Amino acid sequence: MTMPLRLGVNIDHVATIRNARGGEHPDPLRAAFMAVEAGADGITAHLREDRRHIRDRDIDALVNGISVPLNLEMAATQEMLDIALRHKPHAACIVPEKREERTTEGGLDAAGQFATLQPIVTALNEAGIRVSLFIEADAAQIDAAIRLGAPVVEFHTGAYAHLSGEARAVELRRIADAAALAAKNGIEPHAGHGLTFDNVAPIAAIPQIAELNIGHFLIGEAIFGGLEASIREMRRQMDLAR
Ligand code: PXP
Repeated sequence: MTMPLRLGVNIDHVATIRNARGGEHPDPLRAAFMAVEAGADGITAHLREDRRHIRDRDIDALVNGISVPLNLEMAATQEMLDIALRHKPHAACIVPEKREERTTEGGLDAAGQFATLQPIVTALNEAGIRVSLFIEADAAQIDAAIRLGAPVVEFHTGAYAHLSGEARAVELRRIADAAALAAKNGIEPHAGHGLTFDNVAPIAAIPQIAELNIGHFLIGEAIFGGLEASIREMRRQMDLAR
């Protein structure tokens, strides 16, 4: 059965623009309100260790201000776990994080980092925070997610987004197979990274995928047509593909 497809709008890069001048404008919370108006089902924000975009006070403002679920993207560290437990967002998506990277460049090695992840996933689960693991579309990673007790996985669509032709088709099949495998094992599959108007439809058409998290393209596109229009168009493309 095809499930409804949710859109999580990632507002990190509203904060990137704000931080370029160090003031208060543009305000990520205002962008979050606007995203909800335009059809976002949730708001996603990545509090990086170096605070290059979202800052701690943004998380405070989002937790207290928005009416839709907040998905906090976080590295698997004690500092981030403490922040998540303090704020209790609806969901926490554990991502790999390297200081020198420009963005989250690959999936989390849930299989290789099992011992590090186990206490963090357990603590989040016990706090009632819905844990998601940002992984590659790979059976070994799904197996690790099952053993860790994560209710959700998010497949990294960066490779899919950057490839073309047959290579992209192969990557798409890999994501579709992984989504089916996750769902068969009771894990809700999500997807995100690098999605645009041009490449979202085939991912949105994968019937088991329940949520897409999209940020950079939507904020960039907002420069040309406004934030509401860019989100509404993405929502329309997703619904059409479904
Ligand atoms: N999902 C996760 C787990 C991410 O880390 C990111 C990027 O922060 C996204 C989705 C959104 O990616 P993009 O900004 O390329 O749309």
